[in-house]
Amino acid sequence: PAPGCHSSVAGTVREASSVFLKTGRPRSSSMGRMSWFLLLLGVLTAYCIYTPLPENIEEPMLTNTPLKALAHLVSLQFFEFQMGMCRHLIQRSSFSKILFFRLKVPPTSDKNVIVTDTKFNNTPVRVYVPRRKSDTLRRSVFYIHGGGWSLGSAAFISYDLLSRRTADRLDAVVVSTNYRLAPKYHFPVQFEDVYDAIKWFLRKNILEEYVAQQLLDDPDVKIRLKIQCLIYPALQTLDVETPSYQDNAHMPVLPKSLSIWFYSNYMTSDSALRKAMKRNQHVPVEAAPLFKLVNWSSLLPERFLKGHVYKAPTFGRSELARKHPGFLDVRVAPLLAADSKLRDLPRTYLVTCQYDVLRDDGLMYVRRLRDAGVPVTHNHVEDGLQGILSFPVFKIYYRLMDEYIRWLDENL
Ligand SMILES: *[C@@H]1O[C@H](CO)[C@@H](O)[C@H](O)[C@H]1NC(C)=O
Repeated sequence: PAPGCHSSVAGTVREASSVFLKTGRPRSSSMGRMSWFLLLLGVLTAYCIYTPLPENIEEPMLTNTPLKALAHLVSLQFFEFQMGMCRHLIQRSSFSKILFFRLKVPPTSDKNVIVTDTKFNNTPVRVYVPRRKSDTLRRSVFYIHGGGWSLGSAAFISYDLLSRRTADRLDAVVVSTNYRLAPKYHFPVQFEDVYDAIKWFLRKNILEEYVAQQLLDDPDVKIRLKIQCLIYPALQTLDVETPSYQDNAHMPVLPKSLSIWFYSNYMTSDSALRKAMKRNQHVPVEAAPLFKLVNWSSLLPERFLKGHVYKAPTFGRSELARKHPGFLDVRVAPLLAADSKLRDLPRTYLVTCQYDVLRDDGLMYVRRLRDAGVPVTHNHVEDGLQGILSFPVFKIYYRLMDEYIRWLDENL
């Protein structure tokens, strides 16, 4: 699965605690980070309060604050401007320093879990090992954070909390991987960093069972993933006019323009790809046969089609795809894999959110996996927004985390 959104793959770990224990680091003050975190959440919450959100979205837990005043600073009219600023900051690469750096937490062990930063091969990872003694095989979760290939880190406060809870509640070893980010690094660096880390993990004969498309064909990998969990995943680049892209084009967190920007930033710093994607004219006519793999008119359940009429694809210049073949690569767009490849994937848990441009990617993948005979548990969050597991102020964060961990517990 593409590391664009959260995903994790899991298996069973043997003797993990002796393998993974390394040095801990001293605890540092978290007040500064906490204020930054609250500020970011405040702005986002304010934004969510002010922006006309769908009615069934749960209230954030911070509504009785002066956030409503702040909310007026942010409005839909400024939306594109903000997105532009956001992109600018990421491109200047100071973005992570001024914002995300502040939201990182050091690897701090607690009474239940030992947390360590280390390297798997050349990839920095954060490892969570339960303190409890275990006589049997330990389960393991390999967690890949989201952030459009441009943002985020295993040390991000929300992901750290999620991984810590997963380790504690499942009594499992959680490996949360980092990868080098765009725009400094483009595809396939992100993919390969993650792939190297997971391969390293498996080559050590630590995992007993295991999954992911490319790993299926890799003769070096003898141990298989047991399950995969895809949390509002980004799965295709062919069609950015699916009903969910159309209906949620201006949703907070991941509007269409930002999603397209993330994809193109993942591939290249050249803006031609982004401009073509905006017009949904980036795919060359030679790739026409691929469209049946993401044909939402035949793959989406009836209720998501409401009011949308499928238009035949329009094609763009061939040299774009020649220059940036990555956007048609299955490592970027797992929906472009043939059924024969999907068939061998493991049991899957897939989360989609109603108010998310990527919703239909997930829905189509559920359908294609099931058609290929893969058992899928589909959790469609009716009141969900993209990225909800980054914001532990919404009740929905805790609900979704709970459902995800419970499913892991029952299926891993
Ligand atoms: C998509 O599916 C519809 C049927 O639901 C079909 O009429 C159309 O030709 C298909 N288009 C492509 C590009 O596969």
